Amino acid sequence: MDQSPVSTEPLIRNISDTACWAAIYRARETDRPDALFRDPLARRLAGTRGEHIANTIPDGNKNLWTWVTRTYLFDRFLAEQVKEGVDMVINLAAGLDARPYRMALPSSLQWIEVDLPEILTYKEEILSGQKPVCALQRVQLDLANISARRELFDKLSKRAKRVLIVSEGFVTYLAPDEAGSLAKDLAAPPSFQRWVLDMMSPGLLKMLQKKIGSHLSQAGAPFQFGPPEGPDFLIPFGWKPLDVRSLFKTAAKLKRLPFFLRLMSFLPEPKGPQGSKFWSGICLFAGHAPRSRRTTTSCPRWYALWSATKRASRRMV
Ligand SMILES: C[S@@+](CC[C@H](N)C(=O)[O-])C[C@H]1O[C@@H](n2cnc3c(N)ncnc32)[C@H](O)[C@@H]1O
Repeated sequence: MDQSPVSTEPLIRNISDTACWAAIYRARETDRPDALFRDPLARRLAGTRGEHIANTIPDGNKNLWTWVTRTYLFDRFLAEQVKEGVDMVINLAAGLDARPYRMALPSSLQWIEVDLPEILTYKEEILSGQKPVCALQRVQLDLANISARRELFDKLSKRAKRVLIVSEGFVTYLAPDEAGSLAKDLAAPPSFQRWVLDMMSPGLLKMLQKKIGSHLSQAGAPFQFGPPEGPDFLIPFGWKPLDVRSLFKTAAKLKRLPFFLRLMSFLPEPKGPQGSKFWSGICLFAGHAPRSRRTTTSCPRWYALWSATKRASRRMV
């Protein structure tokens, strides 16, 4: 993958260029003396293309806090889940993420990165001399290929007891039916127990489509996912929200908001779907596929408890 931008090319040539764009913000955070995380490989991975996209796209250098807070929250959820006994992490659309090189993770942890062939080949070239801290494997796969992804999920699920799915900056690019279909496939394997992903409100989706949508649509990568139901959108597809963290509120706590937004951060954020508000959050989900597809023992504890309560209440009537 050639990373040097050429003036005759579109700013974002294809969906994988968004990985360079995301990586440059991790590089910039790393340069700060008060960095919330450090990713020493990010600048090399982002390359001149990442820098060019951030410097050219509307507001590209304005909303650093959103990118940084997103990564910060994913790191937090990941660290918590690993502490709770996750033995495999599957990073869907991993792009140029370098967590297996920069986070403190157990060496026994299986870490699977899935993304399109071109970006993973480029990443491997850049990282060839580096050593990950855990057991890293890369899988070149188009996640839109339903039979191939099901086969992969099935194979991986048998290698672990408790799997955490991570998809950072990915589901946003899917149409709602595609997001639902992916969620359903992820809910099927019993060991796939947790999923952490970012989501936005319909209001923010509309605003971003207006502001930067043309660059993304031109690359065949429009922002599409901002369901009116919010995180509850995934419930019918087998995933129940466990923990939802607002990027705005978290950035306020971290003192990373620009001055004018800091004033607004004192206002309470209403619970539930955010509708036309500019909201985005990082959400942790628990798998709750029907019992025919999941055995009770492999279900999350809340699901077993919920089923038992339901059975008991049925007995009472
Ligand atoms: C915005 S980047 C996010 C990358 C990374 N998760 C991060 O946060 O830095 C989106 C990623 O989704 C990947 N992607 C998009 N569609 C895909 C598909 N159908 N199959 C696999 N990966 C895909 C792109 O190649 C790109 O790496």
